[in-house]
Amino acid sequence: MNREKQIVTIVGCGSTRTPALIGSLVNYKERFPLKKLILFDISKERIDAQKDYIRLVMEEHCPEVELLFTDDEDKAYVGTDYVFCQMRAGNFEMRSHDEKIPLKHGLVGQETCGPGGFAYGMRSITPMVNMVKKIREYAPEAWILNYTNPAAIVAVALDKVFPDDKKILNICDQPYSMIKSFAKILDVDMYDIEPRYFGLNHFGWFTKLYHTPSGEDLLPKLKDYLTNHEFKPFNAEQRDPSWLETYKNVNRMMAHFPEYLPNTYLQYYFFSDEIVRESNPEFTRADEAKKGREKQVLDICKQAREQNSLDGLPLLIGQVHGNMMVEVAESIAYDLKKVFVVMVRNEGIISNLPKDAIVECAGELTKNGAEAYPYGEVDTFYKGLLENQYAYEKLTVEACLEGNYQKAIQALTLNRTIINPNKAKAVLDDLMEVNGEYWKLK
Ligand code: G6P
Ligand code: MN
Repeated sequence: MNREKQIVTIVGCGSTRTPALIGSLVNYKERFPLKKLILFDISKERIDAQKDYIRLVMEEHCPEVELLFTDDEDKAYVGTDYVFCQMRAGNFEMRSHDEKIPLKHGLVGQETCGPGGFAYGMRSITPMVNMVKKIREYAPEAWILNYTNPAAIVAVALDKVFPDDKKILNICDQPYSMIKSFAKILDVDMYDIEPRYFGLNHFGWFTKLYHTPSGEDLLPKLKDYLTNHEFKPFNAEQRDPSWLETYKNVNRMMAHFPEYLPNTYLQYYFFSDEIVRESNPEFTRADEAKKGREKQVLDICKQAREQNSLDGLPLLIGQVHGNMMVEVAESIAYDLKKVFVVMVRNEGIISNLPKDAIVECAGELTKNGAEAYPYGEVDTFYKGLLENQYAYEKLTVEACLEGNYQKAIQALTLNRTIINPNKAKAVLDDLMEVNGEYWKLK
């Protein structure tokens, strides 16, 4: 394979998902070859925690690639071709607040949905806007591949602030992870499945699963299977209990609405009460992930640093997030037209939803970015849900950009996990207090 080599910048490289993303870059080094890899984070401490492991992996597998770790954003984007963005404003400490504060009010505590997602969205927007401005100073032609959460809110905000920037792509790995899980159940290769999908990010449905070699839609078969089998992620053995419970809720949602296959994140909107009841406000997903993935990765990195070698250490590979990021970049870089579930400005793709909504749907990734497949109309039930959720997203973005308290209350009241304006106000006031460093409303 003789492909042009790329310069990639990872923003938020202090994330413990980065070592596995590096493993995916190594894994795909023939398909997506690198010239230079720039790892940028605003925290030097977080860079240093993982730096040696990453350096050793790159030296062993890709010695020809120039490597730069930096906490200076004026060095991060010089000449870059692809920016993989996965920053988390406020780190795990703020994720924990996003999850725990709503639970104190009897509301869903989740990093991307409900009041927690709102607070996180409010934190993400400003640094994301500043990042895009900075990238455009140094790399006007670079592709910005955004995975920063809550991606739904971030995507609406970036589209509002940079409506003419054609090289920003927002994408989420949950549909990818679900397709990988479908493929395992159906015993087919995941790359032979071409989905059709509609909705908003973390708020959508699979409508078809074409098996490309045969042309058959495998969704009916999968739905049959799921009527009497638990839905498990492909890597169930490695998943924490909360994720297994999340996948099971797909079965429960389908018992009511068997038409399509819902994204797991819809559980928070349909089963808010049950989820609140079953949550432990002292130990949420942030704690679980910290004890699990965070610890595992940081221990490996620590060992690499102390022994200054990879002896006895695994090559971490991102089975979902990492691989997808590289496959997305590959499809754009070499115009492969592979099909992914992506976020795009609606503009009639879903013909009876607002044109300015950022919808999530299937599309080809080409050298010009996402070319979404037109979907047509959605039925009344879905239209109602989607319009409500989009109004929430839009008001959240406006509340943030204008610093408008009233719009924040409106947004939260629209959110299906809240509904009651008294609750919206109470949780907003508490969230505002701990987020003072990040956002303010008047
Ligand atoms: C999925 C979602 C991401 C989210 C992640 C959280 O991959 O698509 O948007 O960030 O799950 O995973 P975690 O293991 O950190 O709870
Ligand atoms: Mn996501």
